[in-house]
Amino acid sequence: MVSTVSRSDLPEQSPGIKKPVQETLLTPRFYITDFDAVAQMDLSGHEAELEAVVAELRADYNRHHFVRNEEFQQDWEKIDGETRHAFIDFLERSCTSEFSGFLLFKELSRKLKNRQPLLSEAFHLLARDEARHAGFLNKAMADFGLTLDLGYLTKNRTYTFFPPEWVIYTVYLSEKIGYWRYILVYRHLEQHPEHRFYPLFRYFESWCQDENRHGDFFKALLRSQPKLWNCWKARLWARFFLLTVFATHTLTVLERSTFYDSIGIDPQEYNKAVIQNTNETSKRAFPSVLDTDHPEFFPRLEKCAIANQKLAEISSQSRPKFIQTLQKLPWIAVIIWQLLRLYFLPAIDAEASRPVIH
Ligand SMILES: [Fe+2]
Ligand SMILES: [Fe+2]
Repeated sequence: MVSTVSRSDLPEQSPGIKKPVQETLLTPRFYITDFDAVAQMDLSGHEAELEAVVAELRADYNRHHFVRNEEFQQDWEKIDGETRHAFIDFLERSCTSEFSGFLLFKELSRKLKNRQPLLSEAFHLLARDEARHAGFLNKAMADFGLTLDLGYLTKNRTYTFFPPEWVIYTVYLSEKIGYWRYILVYRHLEQHPEHRFYPLFRYFESWCQDENRHGDFFKALLRSQPKLWNCWKARLWARFFLLTVFATHTLTVLERSTFYDSIGIDPQEYNKAVIQNTNETSKRAFPSVLDTDHPEFFPRLEKCAIANQKLAEISSQSRPKFIQTLQKLPWIAVIIWQLLRLYFLPAIDAEASRPVIH
């Protein structure tokens, strides 16, 4: 959370192949987990709900959706300068994050094959969708003369180990926040088509329904494991992951305001809308959520974003490393302090309103 993102200046490994952006705590991550523990999960009593969400995935509503139409057959050199730079950056982060999901789901599907057939099938179907999403984004990058070398990314990324419980919380959240990110951009561009400078945005409406279904599968999985929602530890973890995801979102969106400006979106308003909606949606799965209406909530998140910009400025200066570290300390302290204050704001008990939430 306290690390900074260096903007890529679009370095290339070989002509047309884009070198991935420098890895930091804010870049999309690649995960592995304890596959044996997932294989041993007790799903008894929850098979019907899991079967229902898997049936939705099997239906494959977007089978014919990710086909590039003739609108893509244009010369995209007309998108230039800052807009081009910011858009390529957006495409790369989105593609990396979709691809990261694909790798995790594919591995889960493979490792569970003979031990948890229903989960193995579900992960296979999730991997199918994420591969489509990543491939579609990579083709969009090709319109700008670049592609991400996904094979290189697979081999050379560092993988972070998360226990299954953390994977379930974070992937649930990343699917639901993904849904809100795509649908809010889509709705905005429906109202302001003059800002739709590239046809990819037209695909977001059905695309985000894939993310919504993925989130629903993780919700069913989470609710099938009582220890993930019916104890005080679960309440603390749920709030921790909500805050982590929301803080990362705020830092990333406000640091990349150029992209949102280029499609006529106010980054601050967009960040608020994405977080408020994701938090509200999370009530259906999590035992406890954050109070995003609290008057301190967004000002404190935005203070973290300002401190993050300062860290980025310090990193970009050519001073000795130890001087930079000294200069960074107060800003790192600002971020930690604000996050602690946010974490201990009064939370909302989602279980209390469970009977009326469907
Ligand atoms: Fe996706
Ligand atoms: Fe997804």
